[in-house]
Amino acid sequence: MKTVRLRDIDLAVSDQGSGRPLVLVHGFPLTHAIWDEQVRALAPGRRVLAPDLRGFGQSGVTPGRVTMDQFAHDLAAMLDALEVAEPVVLAGLSMGGYIAMRFFELYRRRLGGLVLCDTRAAADTPQAAAARRETAARVECEGPGVLAEGMLPRLFSPATLARRPELVESLRQMILGGDPWGLAAAARGLADRPDFTPLLPRIDLPVLVIVGSQDAISPPEEMGAIARAVPGARYVEIPAAGHMAPLEQPAAVSRALAEFLTAAGRSTGS
Ligand code: MLT
Repeated sequence: MKTVRLRDIDLAVSDQGSGRPLVLVHGFPLTHAIWDEQVRALAPGRRVLAPDLRGFGQSGVTPGRVTMDQFAHDLAAMLDALEVAEPVVLAGLSMGGYIAMRFFELYRRRLGGLVLCDTRAAADTPQAAAARRETAARVECEGPGVLAEGMLPRLFSPATLARRPELVESLRQMILGGDPWGLAAAARGLADRPDFTPLLPRIDLPVLVIVGSQDAISPPEEMGAIARAVPGARYVEIPAAGHMAPLEQPAAVSRALAEFLTAAGRSTGS
């Protein structure tokens, strides 16, 4: 991992390979490591950047509330610090997808394509937002175990939960290793995120939508609607995967990304 200095924190980032840049953004309450297999598969042919977002993994923490805007600004500052001037393909899983959509709104010219993986366009309902704020307060008092307990059963497909205890355990450890203040701050930012649905028809970039066929958090019906709303978007459903498609079916997700990157490179000439 490299460390890049942003205005107020250090950001840890895995920076592998060389060539046209791909940025992989993790979900909540995780780290860059959910993309390890995709980095391994794709970095030989291109530069793959996978940061730990502010408050996660080995990156610096700012307590309170961290908005999707802040995460998007951090990604832009990271690209500046790493002297990446050419357009990047930005892929985000779940919370990473919310950040990718906000990045599009703020930094369109820095993008050559977007990948929305196991994510949602809709904002939280008032009830969901209130529950998230309560969870944030509990995480600050009781630690990340609150999140591991509440989220793990919904992150994986039933088959993964039943037959791959080592994968489930490694994700549990990733969540338990998180900083309570960083996790709580991101949870509050998630509660306050906007509805991205009106944005979708305005996305004028190559877009790939990827979803695990058994994703219980951002189900295929919802992600299919996202793909239909974005002009020209490709839609790939990953069989036998839940919300953690890149971990549950790494080869299929890497293949979908590789095909998209080739096609996006052709259409943008990048
Ligand atoms: C994630 O995986 O990032 C979370 O499920 C996002 C969310 O809770 O909305």
